[in-house]
Amino acid sequence: MKFFEIEKTSESKARAGVITTDHGQIQTPIFMPVGTVASVKTVHQRELKEDIKAQIILGNTYHLMLRPTMDIMEQAGGLHKFMNWDRPILTDSGGYQVFSLAKSRKITEEGVKFKSHIDGSLRFMSPEVSMQIQRQIGADIFMAFDECIAYPSDYNAVKTSMELTHRWLKRCIDWTEENKELYDHKQRLFPIVQGSCFSDLRKISAEVISEAGAEGNAIGGLSVGEPEEEMYRITNEVTDILPKDKPRYLMGVGTPWNIIESIGFGVDMMDCVMPTRNARNAMLFTWQGVMNMKNEKWKTDFSPLDEFGTSFVDQEYTKAYVRHLFVAKEYLAKQIASIHNLAFYLDLVKVAREHIIAGDFYQWKEQIIPQLKKRL
Ligand code: GUN
Repeated sequence: MKFFEIEKTSESKARAGVITTDHGQIQTPIFMPVGTVASVKTVHQRELKEDIKAQIILGNTYHLMLRPTMDIMEQAGGLHKFMNWDRPILTDSGGYQVFSLAKSRKITEEGVKFKSHIDGSLRFMSPEVSMQIQRQIGADIFMAFDECIAYPSDYNAVKTSMELTHRWLKRCIDWTEENKELYDHKQRLFPIVQGSCFSDLRKISAEVISEAGAEGNAIGGLSVGEPEEEMYRITNEVTDILPKDKPRYLMGVGTPWNIIESIGFGVDMMDCVMPTRNARNAMLFTWQGVMNMKNEKWKTDFSPLDEFGTSFVDQEYTKAYVRHLFVAKEYLAKQIASIHNLAFYLDLVKVAREHIIAGDFYQWKEQIIPQLKKRL
């Protein structure tokens, strides 16, 4: 079985495919719930599988190296066993998190020295360290160690940073060729395109990344504060260059409409903390639009939480009840909202896939996006 098979290419760039890993298959386009510290916040693994229908989840090198540490991860036999998740896992390399979370950091050619956000201890991460940790975690797909530069940054700074990411990629590839998997399943390394919002740099980066010949490729450095149109423009330019026969992963994106637009540009995989983080802040995404569950207007609305929702919480609880739980600051509010939002995101990509296969994706996209953006 090939790692990636395309089942159907729509009228333009969107495609429906299947990724095959040693932990099972993933139907693309897919949304990947974020399980940073070996937990998708507030949600049981059983709920992720049965109610949310997650096919792959994310873990984070940066967080897991600090806690529980790799000694414990290896003793557990890797992340799948540690957290009791037998479907595919993807790990981010730590590059992005070191830059966004660590208390202070100093970057050199060799790697990044930083202070842990947990206890302030001095740490070091490099392409080799990141690869070693990702071997110990044992994700099915693991990411190259990159620098995600802040937006906006000037042209020369972006170029220098992008070139460093390219040199680091070579070190990631060399290390993983010399140091094979620790567990009895295959791991695939995805390199990451950088270059901020400069088209010529993105073109160079997409070419360098394509030439690495990896089994899948990622687009990083987006959804970091740039205007939405810039994110769309760059995604579209980069997917024009990345190999057609390999999965394309857009990192850290986004809202339901960002997901649909990105699929339209030929993106196959996406992840974001938005469905879980916003759920904990009472924001629910639905096919009808966005709901703030703390709003007075739901106070006596005894209709189902989401009549078109696919998860049990949508049918078993009312809007008035979930509003009450948020107002009373009950933990259950966050659990219900997280299950709802993740199930909605998984339903969204499933329906998008069906429209790609049916051949009417672009028509559907134009009609559904204004609906998704409505404030209820
Ligand atoms: N997550 C969101 N954006 C990025 C990025 O540019 N690099 C990495 N490693 N992770 C990300």
